[in-house]
Amino acid sequence: MSRVHIDFAGVTKSYKDRIIVGGLSFTVGPGECFGLLGPNGAGKSTITRMVLGMIPPDAGKITVLGVPVPARARLARARIGVVPQFDNLDLELTVRENLLAFGRYFSMSTREVEAVIPSLLQFARLENKADARVAELSGGMKRRLTLARSLINDPQLLVMDEPTTGLDPHARHLIWERLRSLLARGKTIILTTHFMEEAERLCDRLCVIEAGRKIAEGCPRALIDEQIGCQVIEIYGGNPHELGALIRPYVQRIEVSGETLFCYAPDPEQVLVQLRGRTGLRLLQRPPNLEDVFLRLTGREMKD
Ligand SMILES: Nc1ncnc2c1ncn2[C@@H]1O[C@H](COP(=O)(O)OP(=O)(O)OP(=O)(O)O)[C@@H](O)[C@H]1O
Ligand SMILES: [Mg+2]
Repeated sequence: MSRVHIDFAGVTKSYKDRIIVGGLSFTVGPGECFGLLGPNGAGKSTITRMVLGMIPPDAGKITVLGVPVPARARLARARIGVVPQFDNLDLELTVRENLLAFGRYFSMSTREVEAVIPSLLQFARLENKADARVAELSGGMKRRLTLARSLINDPQLLVMDEPTTGLDPHARHLIWERLRSLLARGKTIILTTHFMEEAERLCDRLCVIEAGRKIAEGCPRALIDEQIGCQVIEIYGGNPHELGALIRPYVQRIEVSGETLFCYAPDPEQVLVQLRGRTGLRLLQRPPNLEDVFLRLTGREMKD
């Protein structure tokens, strides 16, 4: 077993003249959950496809489970479970038939697949859907089936592109619990997500990507402490610019995202005093989280 499960070294990818991934390096160790965060279009799916050997890099070196990719991607793929960003199930087949067909990619016999179907369906809470046509499943059920399908070959490494997008809160919590138990069993996971809570709960380390380049890397807690390190007050209901001007002297930093003003306040009481007596405002004071880190790194700080 190789020491590092994914080694991305100076990887570059362009489409036409546009750099999509620019000189990106990172490693993922065995048993680690590594998160890729970044705005829409940052290059996350492109990176995951390069891990799978589906897209060749223009430059740089990729090693996955000890083999060079894309050159020997087939070998690596036998030990990888994949959740693509968009489900690619066969809608005309039943749930069971989808799993049987997928098992064939891994040269699994019908008997071998039949043996794991109950645990896969249990993983996704689809126990009573085995004989339903996939076209008749809800969007969230399809997503759960895609997640279950990724485990069919008992993979060592899971490559998951937005695994819980489209799931309701119950299903999302269920999948978090399931992924955590996979990690407890020593599996390695690389995932992309737009859910900061998901990244904070699951990831040992994460990398924030913007325009194909790494802008931060570390464990969630350390990133939150380094980048924010103070209480946050969210304000909505007023004019963000007017309020921003009022409280600016009492805060470290202000971000405006849509109609919400995020104030980073070493002494929150000073801010709250300024806002006392104002009607129509909704205030929320809370500890900093990964969403604040994301906004700080990729957002637009209010400067004026
Ligand atoms: N086949 C392609 N040809 C040209 N450009 C592409 C191609 N695939 C992706 N891109 C571009 O590469 C950039 C990164 O796309 P990618 O899908 O990797 O982003 P992402 O971070 O996964 O975004 P999202 O969060 O929306 O899923 C985008 O600007 C996209 O338009
Ligand atoms: Mg994507």
